[in-house]
Amino acid sequence: MTWGTIATWRMAHDGVRKASDLLAQAGRAGDAVEALINVVEAYPYYKSVGYGGLPNEEGVVEMDAAFMDGDTLAQGAVGGIRNVMHAVSVARALSAQHYNSFRVGEGATKFAALNGFEMTNMLTDRAKAQWQHRLAELAAADLDPYDGHDTVGAITLDRQGSMAAATSTSGLFMKKAGRVGDSPLSGSGFYVDSERGGATATGLGEDIMKGCLAYEIVRRMGDGETPQAACDHAVYPFIETLKRRYGKAGEFSLIAMNPRGDWGVATNVEFTFSVATSAAAPQLLMATPGPAQTTVIAPVTQAWLEAYEQRLKAPIDLSR
Ligand code: GLY
Repeated sequence: MTWGTIATWRMAHDGVRKASDLLAQAGRAGDAVEALINVVEAYPYYKSVGYGGLPNEEGVVEMDAAFMDGDTLAQGAVGGIRNVMHAVSVARALSAQHYNSFRVGEGATKFAALNGFEMTNMLTDRAKAQWQHRLAELAAADLDPYDGHDTVGAITLDRQGSMAAATSTSGLFMKKAGRVGDSPLSGSGFYVDSERGGATATGLGEDIMKGCLAYEIVRRMGDGETPQAACDHAVYPFIETLKRRYGKAGEFSLIAMNPRGDWGVATNVEFTFSVATSAAAPQLLMATPGPAQTTVIAPVTQAWLEAYEQRLKAPIDLSR
């Protein structure tokens, strides 16, 4: 049977390869989505997820994550969890519980410590230096403090027809302590139903949650829309609605996959994503908003990849 996986941003590409290998060997959707996100969480250069993620304004890395099983609709989530290497794995463990399945702050961190999850200081020297530079910039000029909130979100479909979805993020750089975005919120940052499909979001959580966009995309797929039509029809009119009624709309990008392994994307910014199915090897693609509320999708160029790699690993003065 068909299998597939799709995930947000260039950073997910290695995880998509790993998930593809698992799914091709008849691995289960839940295991594959967790493995995919674990790869991103452990890579210290990704500054918006897991180890190396940028901290809040107090210099503390607080992470949000969620896991959803598309067969049972079971969900687990954590908000503002600290010192945990794999927040998504904690979310998955919580999804096995009927009660207390969404834990925040100290309670989430305590659950992880008591249940044997890998605990570590998530603030790398590099992330600390970036935080200190930002504090200095803010002291010198009247700047918007907030920058960078690229969630890894992923959807998997296994050979048995089961689907899963998950997210993980360190959230908005320089956020206030205790701020939680869309990523752990059911229907906003993620949703999956093995009979209809799944969707996840990345971007400014405060605006994504105004539209419950992940659920809206799944609802539309359930009504028969293709994943691409569901993404276009849910996302672009909502951006217009937000601009008209709220006065502005932050950046956001959504991905979707249905139980046949068809996929779709919509975005109001340049957005990379990675996708693989039983019919197509892992591919890194770029989406941009197209004419008349459509999405333009093209392969990522070698020049873009090289510039990305340089940006990612650009030297940072760690001496401050
Ligand atoms: N989408 C991630 C966040 O806003 O925290």
